[in-house]
Amino acid sequence: MRTRVLPISEASIDEACKVLLAGDLVAFPTETVYGLGGLGLNPDSVSKIFATKDRPTTDPLILHVSSDDLAALADDEIIAKPIPALAVALVSQFWPGPLTLTLPKGPRVPFGVTAGLPTVAIRYPAHPAAQLLLQKVGQPIAAPSANRFGRISPTDASAVLQELEGKIPLILDGGSCTQGIESTVLSLSGSNPTILRSGAITAEMISSITERQTLRDARNLQQSVPSPSPGMLQSHYAPQTPLYLAPTAIEHFDPPYQYILYEIRNSKLPPGAYLLAPDQNPSTAAQNLYRLLRQADSIGSPAILIDPIPDSNWAPAIRDRLQRASSGTALWQNGGWKLLPRAGA
Ligand code: TXA
Ligand code: MG
Repeated sequence: MRTRVLPISEASIDEACKVLLAGDLVAFPTETVYGLGGLGLNPDSVSKIFATKDRPTTDPLILHVSSDDLAALADDEIIAKPIPALAVALVSQFWPGPLTLTLPKGPRVPFGVTAGLPTVAIRYPAHPAAQLLLQKVGQPIAAPSANRFGRISPTDASAVLQELEGKIPLILDGGSCTQGIESTVLSLSGSNPTILRSGAITAEMISSITERQTLRDARNLQQSVPSPSPGMLQSHYAPQTPLYLAPTAIEHFDPPYQYILYEIRNSKLPPGAYLLAPDQNPSTAAQNLYRLLRQADSIGSPAILIDPIPDSNWAPAIRDRLQRASSGTALWQNGGWKLLPRAGA
């Protein structure tokens, strides 16, 4: 199959709409990462998503919707009634945007979307092209990140092409994603709201809305709840080149390793080094993370080493992804890098 890449326009969005309504898949930009979209209420399109990504069918998908009207979603039998008051408060604050909610599912959601779970993940993306596509299609679009399973999420059209060329008919090219890291996933189906995946909407931002309902983080619940989110594997989002986390700022640049620095410390960037946040802005670090991992991964180096991530609103999400992507820790000892494997990597 030939994969066409079309810049965003009325015509290309109409074309994407046609492809989707015919049951095929389209990769499209969102503010977080590119999604691999298919009709979310059509079991055949949903199966195609899993097959195209080589994704295990036990890992549920997010339904992308085109408004923050939860009552309408319940009337459409996408989510169940009654709608929690907390969900209404959260979407009025954070939608459209990078917050995914899991809620008890309605009867119209196919088994495949939720991997048989009683809950469905929904998100109203902030990207204008994604919104226009959703409006024109007139029904929810199921869309995981547009990478092959276990690989780095794509943040521009060329990365999608690298992942899925020949496997899908169309990629809508909207340039680089402004956020660069997947949405926060928040479960509202248990006794307490629980963060299943960290992202741009932080625990502090959510806590300001949840008030008396204590916010939990699934990473701290791993013993008591076996699998709060089936997709949150310990090892994920990985480049093919092993990635090692340096506990202190990298100061040695021995070839043949590749080095991702948080910010510049001398006036010149050494060969084999990349800068995550040239302007020292944490949101720039998030935006550049996957692109630089992909770039460093393409060199054929035996390892990529990365600087520690300084505290900021973005730090929990970036550290979470790096932890899952990493093979271990890099220590400078006796004039050389020592690469220590992490347990379970
Ligand atoms: O930013 C994003 O969320 C991007 C863009 C394209 O919207 N999408 C994305 O989808 O990252 P994906 O499939 O790569 O990640 C969805 C995550 C997975 O970890 C999955 O296990 C979890 O959401 N998830 C989906 N439905 C769930 C459910 N009902 N209960 C718990 N976790 C769920
Ligand atoms: Mg993904």
